[in-house]
Amino acid sequence: MNGKKILLGTATVVAGALLLSGCSGASGGDSGGSGDGGLVGVAMPTKSSERWIQDGDAVKSQLEEQGFSVDLQYAEDDIPTQVSQIENMITKGAEALIVASIDGTTLTSVLQEAADAGIPVIAYDRLIRDTENVDYYASFDNYQVGVQQATSILNGLGFTELDGTPIDGAPEGPFNIELFAGSPDDNNATFFWNGAIDTLQPYMDEGTLVVASGQTDFQQAATLRWDGETAQSRMEDILVSTYSGGEQVDAVLSPYDGISRGIISALTDAGYTVGDEWPIISGQDAELDSVKAINRGEQYATIFKDTRQLAEVAVNMAVALLNGEEPEVNNTTDYDNGVTVVPSYLLESAIVVKDNIQEVLVDSGYWTEADITG
Ligand code: BGC
Repeated sequence: MNGKKILLGTATVVAGALLLSGCSGASGGDSGGSGDGGLVGVAMPTKSSERWIQDGDAVKSQLEEQGFSVDLQYAEDDIPTQVSQIENMITKGAEALIVASIDGTTLTSVLQEAADAGIPVIAYDRLIRDTENVDYYASFDNYQVGVQQATSILNGLGFTELDGTPIDGAPEGPFNIELFAGSPDDNNATFFWNGAIDTLQPYMDEGTLVVASGQTDFQQAATLRWDGETAQSRMEDILVSTYSGGEQVDAVLSPYDGISRGIISALTDAGYTVGDEWPIISGQDAELDSVKAINRGEQYATIFKDTRQLAEVAVNMAVALLNGEEPEVNNTTDYDNGVTVVPSYLLESAIVVKDNIQEVLVDSGYWTEADITG
């Protein structure tokens, strides 16, 4: 991950520029579907998580502002549904596809159909794997998201500042931590996991953090489809198998707010109450229910990934391609999909804790104060 800081610096500047430019790339209106009402297909995984609704809405409205019509579809985490939705988009004459996959490995044949029809494909947030027919990738720096998740735990336990700087006089521990990972069919899940584990490993090696259940492999920690109930029952099992003799869970690495909510339910059901002994729990996506939970002290942190910015990057990529231009990228090394390294544009994410909800989420207009306290 050398050079990450430089990339991040560039990402901030260019993301700002994209936001300021007001998507001027499509203003010509006379070439390749720009401003002429051409159809763009947008495939999203599920409406069961708030973030994808916000992503879909943002991509749709930004494309419509530029004169495109949009076929926006959600597949409720069902792979055959997503494949047939994309097939339909191709049949309807979509000029470009923006796809957030459910399982990144299952779109090979439908994307061959897209390629045969000359339709460019942008992988949205999640890398599409095992095909050469994915042209660009718009996402966040997913390894860094994992680093931030682990850093939020270290901060909550009193080891580091939010920027990772060690705190003098940090507690000696040892602290018990349990580890959760995302869906194994989502390419992002291993990036989050690797970033988090690389950050926690020195503390685990010196014995300051102890995974008391012994479940330290990605496969043991993985949560198919990022499902909160699956995470809840795994947490319940761990509490019974490892903590029924009076031991205390001090922290839980969670890669997504929906998983964090499942973990919180398991802890509450087992008799944990918010207060001094309540564990430090991470998250991701700044979903409203979880931001409220952070405000109440149930969840310690989440990672904010601004879906409006991601939508803008993906829309700009699609518009550039339709105009015969080359989309802007800032990473051409990290996202090998098994067949090709997909040129990527990675945005920056931010750690949110109770103290900076106002600054990060309210001042940026992502949530209002009334949303959070109401
Ligand atoms: C996204 C995360 C999200 C997770 C579950 C991942 O691919 O990058 O933001 O929390 O899917 O929806």
